[in-house]
Amino acid sequence: MESFNPYVRELEQLASQALHSGSLAPPVQERAAAALDGQTTEMLRSLVPLPVRRRAGAFFTGMALAKLALEPISAKISSASKAFDPACGVGDLLIAYARHLPLERDLLETVQAWGEQLHGSDVHPEFVRAAKARLTLFAAIRGASGSRNRQPSVHETFPHVSVGDGLSIAGPDTGSIHVLLNPPYAKIAIPPECEWGSGKLSAAALFIDHWLSTSRPGAHVTAILPDVLRTGSLYGKWRANVESRAKIELVQVVGAFDDKADVDVFVLQLTVGSSDCKQSVSWWRTSAETARSHVGDRFRVYVGPVVPHRHADDGDRYPYLHAKLMPPWQTIDAQDTERRRFQGRTFTPPFVAVRRTSSPHDRHRAIATVVDGRLPVAVENHLLVLEPRDGTLETCQALLKMLHDERTTSWLNDRIRCRHLTVGALSEVPWWDRKDDR
Ligand SMILES: C[S@@+](CC[C@H](N)C(=O)[O-])C[C@H]1O[C@@H](n2cnc3c(N)ncnc32)[C@H](O)[C@@H]1O
Repeated sequence: MESFNPYVRELEQLASQALHSGSLAPPVQERAAAALDGQTTEMLRSLVPLPVRRRAGAFFTGMALAKLALEPISAKISSASKAFDPACGVGDLLIAYARHLPLERDLLETVQAWGEQLHGSDVHPEFVRAAKARLTLFAAIRGASGSRNRQPSVHETFPHVSVGDGLSIAGPDTGSIHVLLNPPYAKIAIPPECEWGSGKLSAAALFIDHWLSTSRPGAHVTAILPDVLRTGSLYGKWRANVESRAKIELVQVVGAFDDKADVDVFVLQLTVGSSDCKQSVSWWRTSAETARSHVGDRFRVYVGPVVPHRHADDGDRYPYLHAKLMPPWQTIDAQDTERRRFQGRTFTPPFVAVRRTSSPHDRHRAIATVVDGRLPVAVENHLLVLEPRDGTLETCQALLKMLHDERTTSWLNDRIRCRHLTVGALSEVPWWDRKDDR
């Protein structure tokens, strides 16, 4: 992260000028405003190569998203509360929190008072220094000005923002605590004793786990997390674990993290320790709970088993379906398609094939084709197979209409924003009927 240093020095110079003159002169004010709004991300992108940023999980929360994430807790922020961001980067979440803190008599007193309330850590010293400078600049931009005492250096400000590993430290232990998180999302090895997962999973899941263990009951956790934690089947046990240790106050689907990142996020707000209360907020919208029936009541859902680069062309010869062969929203006869040999599971028509890969920006999320025919069919891994429980072509065609309905797309966009549709998500799609019509 050393290549970020020249920019950090610029930020420190600006903050130092503010501290020494007790305010921001107009040209400095403009530069400070830029440093608080998007410029840090641009500088990180231009100074630090993408692979290095990826390894570090260094993607800073823009001001708009930081404000949105903290809005629901704004009424709970006061001069008696404390914030702790264990992976604070250049301080965007702490700055969004400081927006709700009172100003003191002058800039120095404001920086000192905020310094007792704002805690953070990051493994990269460059980010910690930038966070301190930006917090000082934010206090000055908010209007704290004038000073009567000795001016500290920027390094002396915000003593509780320091270098540290957010997966092993503890936060402040007095006062009303808000843990703020936009942790790294990259996959890391999960410790063997972990109850909810194994192998490699998102570091974000581990951060939440650590802060649920470390925080006192009653502490609030506000986190910006990758959508896969909200909807992915790999994180089902993690979600159950979170539910057993905290009250879920809010699950807010946000969409793309920013205009460059290829990841959708959501905001999760928890109160630590209220484990035995029934959760009133669920991980995804609950129209499925109120619908009288779901796709899974009428269909068994499977992932196509053929992985072409893994499975040799051995065994009996079957009609073979893969995503490129599937005309959307039509009925095809599998006899007319390609053939291949396969030794694994096959499916006998009629059934519905749905493309596994789609994006929340597509016009339809579950793009489907009805497959008719007499012979068993081998199905490639980029397709989901929905086998009607009553074995009829009519039920398959009714499903095509359900999946084409815009309510399905909107429901799926809430339920699962990652690009791969899951068996669970498709099984839970409500079977819309007239009563559900708007
Ligand atoms: C996605 S960025 C978000 C930063 C900041 N919270 C924000 O919202 O802008 C994640 C940050 O976590 C830091 N990080 C990665 N692993 C860490 C760890 N084990 N402990 C503390 N910080 C870590 C990275 O350096 C990076 O600054």
